[in-house]
Amino acid sequence: MSFYLVTGGAGFIGSHLVEELLRRGQRVRAVDNLSTGKRANLDSAIEAASLSQSGNGPAVEFVQGDLADLEVAHAAVAGVDYVLHQAAQPSVPRSVDDPIGANRANVQATVNVLVAARDAKVRRLVFAGSSSVYGDQPELPKHEEMSTRPQSPYALQKLIGEQYLRLFTELYGLETVTTRYFNVFGPRQDPSSPYSGVISLFIKAVSEGRAPTVHGNGEQTRDFTFVANVVDGVLRAVEAPGVAGDVINVATGARISLKELLGTITRILGSSVEPIYGPTRAGDVRDSQAAIGKAERLLGYRPTVPFEEGLRRTIAWAQQGAHAQR
Ligand code: UD1
Repeated sequence: MSFYLVTGGAGFIGSHLVEELLRRGQRVRAVDNLSTGKRANLDSAIEAASLSQSGNGPAVEFVQGDLADLEVAHAAVAGVDYVLHQAAQPSVPRSVDDPIGANRANVQATVNVLVAARDAKVRRLVFAGSSSVYGDQPELPKHEEMSTRPQSPYALQKLIGEQYLRLFTELYGLETVTTRYFNVFGPRQDPSSPYSGVISLFIKAVSEGRAPTVHGNGEQTRDFTFVANVVDGVLRAVEAPGVAGDVINVATGARISLKELLGTITRILGSSVEPIYGPTRAGDVRDSQAAIGKAERLLGYRPTVPFEEGLRRTIAWAQQGAHAQR
């Protein structure tokens, strides 16, 4: 059994990592400042872990704290073998509105976690990178050897994060890997803020019979990746040999337009709601699609849950939640 720190552990992707690690019998500490995460995201994982506990102390602990504070980062990393650094301010438009707040969450906290991980001599740190670092270059699919061209504070901050990782590998010998995510979606992605991911917002609007808003003409494309695929890719990146200091796309390798996305959601929900079209959002990238050959080669990764299956599971979860609130 190994001991894992999942930063952002009460968040959308972080809580899925915690759940899977516990399912695999690992020990986990989840740290979160609850800025976008929710303590309730960990309820089912913690309950399942305490039921199966063998008497060696709790398999999971939750710490509320802000990693932009170095002391919190040191305490969070103490004693762990691996760090999965998922804590972030994850919204492109929110970073355009508040670049300083986003920098604190995405850069300051990342440097603190790296320093703490170096000092604690952890075995490996895996970082939640972002496909937004590629920017609006016309070449598709986006592969790791391409140059980067961030076009939002968020994208730049994620690029700074991954370059810090590479530097810490070269300077201090800390093993690091960046997994670049492409529009992850799934259960527990919170639709309650205007900064939320588009799939969660569209599902909520269509379920409630409201018109979703499309920013731009809806022809923009994304490599929408169901969260279970990302969990699999990240946990492979923890163990794969020969990847220290590297950057690897974790996605599906396909792209779907917002119009197609909305068409699939309305079809599954049996709705005929039409969207409202608004202006293109500042900082938006037009097309995004991953090359996943490097992940296949180095991590033995292959997406296992296809887009529509993931969408059906996400819609089922959203409907359960709406039911529970009635
Ligand atoms: C998303 C992630 C980001 C990740 C990046 C990787 C979220 C919140 N952001 O950014 O963390 O690093 O993918 O590529 O998950 N849109 C609408 N209507 C809406 C909301 C959005 O039309 O109500 C459009 C946006 O303008 C954009 C697309 O949908 O063109 C996707 O937006 P969003 O879900 O916010 O994700 P990204 O900005 O691609």
